[in-house]
Amino acid sequence: MNMNPHAFDFNSLPLADGLWTDVRLHTQPQQPAAIAVQGGRIAWAGPAADLPAQHAQGPRHAGGGALVTPGLIDCHTHLVYGGQRAGEFAMRLAGASYAEVARAGGGIVASVRATREASEDALFDSAAARLAGLLDEGVCAIEIKSGYGLTLAHERKQLRVARRLGQAFGVTVRATFLGAHALPPEYAGRSGDYIDHVCHDMLPALHAEGLVDAVDVFCEHIAFSLAETERVFQAAQALGLPVKLHAEQLSNMGGAALAARYGALSCDHIEHLSPEGIVAMRAAGTVAVLLPGAYYTLRDTHLPPIEALRAAGVPMAVSTDHNPGTSPCLSLLLMLNMACTLFRLTVPEALDGVTTHAARALGLQDTHGRIAAGLPANFVLWAVQEPAELAYWFGQRPVRAVVRQGRIAKGAA
Ligand code: NIG
Ligand code: FE
Repeated sequence: MNMNPHAFDFNSLPLADGLWTDVRLHTQPQQPAAIAVQGGRIAWAGPAADLPAQHAQGPRHAGGGALVTPGLIDCHTHLVYGGQRAGEFAMRLAGASYAEVARAGGGIVASVRATREASEDALFDSAAARLAGLLDEGVCAIEIKSGYGLTLAHERKQLRVARRLGQAFGVTVRATFLGAHALPPEYAGRSGDYIDHVCHDMLPALHAEGLVDAVDVFCEHIAFSLAETERVFQAAQALGLPVKLHAEQLSNMGGAALAARYGALSCDHIEHLSPEGIVAMRAAGTVAVLLPGAYYTLRDTHLPPIEALRAAGVPMAVSTDHNPGTSPCLSLLLMLNMACTLFRLTVPEALDGVTTHAARALGLQDTHGRIAAGLPANFVLWAVQEPAELAYWFGQRPVRAVVRQGRIAKGAA
């Protein structure tokens, strides 16, 4: 998408209403299909031969034989931040670990400095430019976390930008408060006091302003302990907010089982997830969010327990984890490829991972992630023959058209 974020007007895009013909649904790629859209919602979808007469009216959109998937969902991102951290990339190439970079004053805290210095408008502009790449590839819903402000004012600034991005681009945004992402330098040695501030001041205020859809914590030795994580979860629960967790990324802290006890929407990263964590997630219906971009960037070698998650029936989602430190990636399709190549997901698992299961990781399962009558029209037309091509090509964006929130956001079928 080529756009000036301030001049762009989503509501001036053409409506997708009418009948989308000559398409194939990814679930039945051999069969000619049709999708009827009315008032911005899917009115009917199925085999073209079964199309009810009442939906054969209205404008036609010729799909050119495209394969159609639901709009993609990027269910874990840190899209709003100031600056970039290519210098740390170089340090890691020279042998430093993520934890060593963090201890040397780099890492998340470096992005906190840059984010605090940036104005809300500057953050909006830089995040809008990044968002454009994801939208261009068919993303129709996205989670955006705070966590680079770490004061009430700066966390508010990030979350406001997340909300503004949703309004400006007609993309469904779930805003997640990640105040407990790292200990800000001004609280050095006083993490308990900082967690008090997160729980008693920041979260209630931001929630009251309508800026929080879910609450996340980075539970790790270089971040917050299990007990501190639980305090944040209790504060979220008291406000009726769902929780999720950066869990067992670098070590097994037992965070996943804790999160499951709080009915977490998702546990994310989970390279070091234990069998007990898997059982707890399964029982709670918690989604396992796999982040191959961070695994790849950190040159991790400890694979998440994919086979055990599969055997237990834990739904697996796949996301970019876009952030300036561990996953400066702006392609969900590339994550699909890596989820298959590095984590050995099957193609249908990976596709579910960026659609139905990603929707569930955001609590959006009733409205997103499927092509079904009654849902808002979010779908992507792909110039490919078979679904496996979506994971097979990389560095290639075979998008033919994108329908987002009932409007034709890309392509003119
Ligand atoms: O999801 N793990 C913690 N948070 C981010 C990294 C953030 C950063 O390094 O800036 C992640 O990988
Ligand atoms: Fe993350």
